[in-house]
Amino acid sequence: MAAITLKTESQIAKMREAGRLTYLTLKLMGELVRPGITTKELDKAAYEFIRDNGAKPSFLDYNGYPASICASVNEQVVHGIPGEYELKDGDIVSIDVGAYLNGWHGDAARTFIVGEASPAVKKLVEVTKECFFEGLKMCVAGNELSAVSAAIQNHAERAGYGVVRELVGHGIGRRMHEEPEVPNFTDPHFPRVRLHAGMTIAIEPMINMGRADVRMLRDGWTVIAADRKPSAHYENTVAITEAGPVILTAE
Ligand code: MF3
Ligand code: CO
Repeated sequence: MAAITLKTESQIAKMREAGRLTYLTLKLMGELVRPGITTKELDKAAYEFIRDNGAKPSFLDYNGYPASICASVNEQVVHGIPGEYELKDGDIVSIDVGAYLNGWHGDAARTFIVGEASPAVKKLVEVTKECFFEGLKMCVAGNELSAVSAAIQNHAERAGYGVVRELVGHGIGRRMHEEPEVPNFTDPHFPRVRLHAGMTIAIEPMINMGRADVRMLRDGWTVIAADRKPSAHYENTVAITEAGPVILTAE
């Protein structure tokens, strides 16, 4: 088990640059999402944007992953592989992207609504975003990491949603996945981790409108809600500092 790596202020400044590019890529995705665009077209735009800004897509070739973004539609939770599917009015699409710039990773995700969605789906997307910010509030040096997890879980479950258990957030830095794991739920068996200034973590609630259970599609990547109800995702890379949490995947 690798130890948690604490970053210096100047290292966090470099992560902020990778995070900014990651954020700008997501912003571009939001501008392109519309009925009729394929997830493959979104992937190509993300690839070119990251490359044109002197970086590499963090996901491309990661454990053999074949694309620069994950594009997970409706009941797909995460890790949907971009393809020929054309987004249509009323869909939601969760886009996850990472940029590797000057030796550091950024990682962020948003769920976009295509055209107009039902009030129930809008609420799922909104509550999932709120879950991130509830967790973020607890990102204070000295707190236990479980306080972040509990805040996310409580907010989702109060709305009657299922918190995905099989996938978790993570430390991030020179590598995309570092210690510690950042679950969106608590469990007495989890190791106790105390937050310190200099920790950099990706917080990423994955919230199902229905039950929490998930399945893997035969492509070996795409995770879907077992009950086929919609699922949303919201992720940012965050630094714990003496002055409080700082979102690194920002403008
Ligand atoms: N953003 C995902 C995460 O937080 C990574 C995608 S996995 C990949 O773990 F294989 F697609 F890169
Ligand atoms: Co992540």
